[in-house]
Amino acid sequence: MNTHPGPRFRSLPLGQGTEAPLFAARVVAITSGKGGVGKSNVTAGLAMTLAQQGQRVVVMDANFGLSNLDILLGLSPKYTLEHVLRGEKVLEEILVEGPMGVQILPTGSGLQELTRLDTMSELRLVQGLQRVAETVDWLLIDTAAGIHDSVLKLLLAAQEVILVATPEPTSLVDAYAMVKVLHLREPSKPLWLLVNNAQSAEEARETIDQLQEATERFLGKQLQVLGMVPHDPHILQAVRQQRGVVDLFPGSPAARAFAAIVRQLLGQALLQPDDFAAFWKHPPPGDAP
Ligand SMILES: Nc1ncnc2c1ncn2[C@@H]1O[C@H](COP(=O)(O)OP(=O)(O)O)[C@@H](O)[C@H]1O
Ligand SMILES: [Mg+2]
Repeated sequence: MNTHPGPRFRSLPLGQGTEAPLFAARVVAITSGKGGVGKSNVTAGLAMTLAQQGQRVVVMDANFGLSNLDILLGLSPKYTLEHVLRGEKVLEEILVEGPMGVQILPTGSGLQELTRLDTMSELRLVQGLQRVAETVDWLLIDTAAGIHDSVLKLLLAAQEVILVATPEPTSLVDAYAMVKVLHLREPSKPLWLLVNNAQSAEEARETIDQLQEATERFLGKQLQVLGMVPHDPHILQAVRQQRGVVDLFPGSPAARAFAAIVRQLLGQALLQPDDFAAFWKHPPPGDAP
């Protein structure tokens, strides 16, 4: 019996001028087929831009074993998810305040697998995430790249998925593979496409067209276009200074692109409510019929 059904995640209809409190966060996982395409930078950029707009944002760094969001933002967390899973801390105690009021859930580098947690650890994590998601507007999950069980679990648990791809052919092929796996498991999952690191709008457009054409033709899956972030050396500079580009270079092309993407995200109603407790109930991908 499931004694912890958890809140239903949903977005409220945003009434004109009403300050209707959101009961629960929009849970969005940011992923990619291939590593190094800019997921963490995109996550940080979106988080800060949302925060700028007055949204309460928590970012979960789900790069297990390779924690890097804290480094990217110059934070030195004392406690991480490892402490939560061991029952030494509750989730709220490990949240660190990042730039612009964005809160980060650091993962720590000793945690390898999300799929092999014992029941107590799972419960601590799920209940903690549910509590946190009740108090904020957004829970962004920066996942590791590639199609692993633990990544897939997070993608299936999230209400929406943002797939980051670059114009490189390898990134495109891996992005398609990711769409395919996700589509086979949950065809109705809202899937956003974000093209990062494009040299021009034309190049971004081409990437979008190629991916959309392939997923529609071979999978019957429609990707929703979230937008694009151009190649922008400001991102590299910000990374070197362990700062967010939105914070450090608010007028940069990348920061402006994040603003446009956030407008798109905020204007879009949620297509499908979900329940975070479902997180752990999905069988591993190999068990799919
Ligand atoms: N739009 C961009 N313009 C320039 N450099 C970028 C851009 N996006 C990402 N990068 C660079 O690419 C590298 C990988 O980015 P990162 O966010 O760590 O990728 P991932 O999280 O997907 O592994 C970083 O060095 C980052 O500075
Ligand atoms: Mg990363």
